[in-house]
Amino acid sequence: MQMKILVVGGAGYIGSHMVKRLALGGHEVVVLDDLSTGFASQVKWGRLVVGSTADTERLASLFGENRFDGVMHFAGSSLVGESVAAPARYYRNNVAHTLNLLDAMVSHGVRHFVFSSTAAVYGEPVAVPIGEAHPRSPINPYGASKWMVERVLQDYAAAYRLNSVSLRYFNASGADPDGELGECHDPETHLIPLVLQSASGRGGPVTVFGRDYPTPDGTCIRDYVHVTDLCEAHALALEAMASGRCKGAMTFNLGNEEGASVHAVIDVAQELVRQDGYEIAVREGSRRPGDPAVLVADSSLARQTLGWQPQFGRLSQIVAHAWHWEKALARQDG
Ligand code: UFG
Repeated sequence: MQMKILVVGGAGYIGSHMVKRLALGGHEVVVLDDLSTGFASQVKWGRLVVGSTADTERLASLFGENRFDGVMHFAGSSLVGESVAAPARYYRNNVAHTLNLLDAMVSHGVRHFVFSSTAAVYGEPVAVPIGEAHPRSPINPYGASKWMVERVLQDYAAAYRLNSVSLRYFNASGADPDGELGECHDPETHLIPLVLQSASGRGGPVTVFGRDYPTPDGTCIRDYVHVTDLCEAHALALEAMASGRCKGAMTFNLGNEEGASVHAVIDVAQELVRQDGYEIAVREGSRRPGDPAVLVADSSLARQTLGWQPQFGRLSQIVAHAWHWEKALARQDG
């Protein structure tokens, strides 16, 4: 079934990969992005409309001019540390502006919404692996803002029959396997790109944030999930809503159900970059506030309900695709 999809935040890391997936799947794509953190150059398919979810008039005209079959929303602010320092920005952008988008959908009869949520809604885990029923007790404004929207979506489903799928990402990582897209954050805070920037020369030594966690090697364990696999889950979620298989407000975890420590990520990356004659410089640091020791998903619900099957579950593949992209960026910088 061909659909016309609005991808909000389609110039960002995950959104840009989503646009590619939808366009190659034969769908018509319109991207709405204010380019505050995304890049016009990353919108390689579809039509880019530069604008913000803050602008209700812009939203009204966009929805008036286009008959969208569904909306995917990637335009959230997503840095935990920044959210603690500037909560107003997080609640405004992630909650208030998302309400603008939802209200435009409701008033124009657009029924299907895929929402980028996060494992940060769980806070400090009380049990691992983490299933969707794990208590939601976010410990920072970023996680709280995403959880608020999930709650809103439950009420909008009941009152306005807005169908939604909220996807709680664990650690989004990797890059387009064809090398056409990848991660571009400024500033970069995520482990894998920082490790690879250290090798390519675009960054300094990578700091290991704490070696005294209660894990086998003392470093934090995360569930790294490939961006292309995340996008596949979004496509499946949209299809499930469009075909009537998913109704109401549903929520799924997206992870590989496998943990890798910071140390393990660096080891995998070191082996890879050495094959190209590069070396990662590593230094020890203290803990970063707010980092849980272990975050690993139980994503059996997404597998069962959506038929999601990650294709790039191996950490070595994730790092290899990210390294291919990092080398391209380093060549550009030149
Ligand atoms: N880390 C380092 N050094 C760095 C950067 C990160 O040691 O320079 C460590 C972190 O302490 C953490 C792991 O590498 O243990 C992964 O850190 P990231 O910053 O790459 O990712 P997070 O796990 O902090 O964040 C991810 C998502 C968030 C989400 C969070 C859930 O990016 O959106 O998981 O807790 F909120």
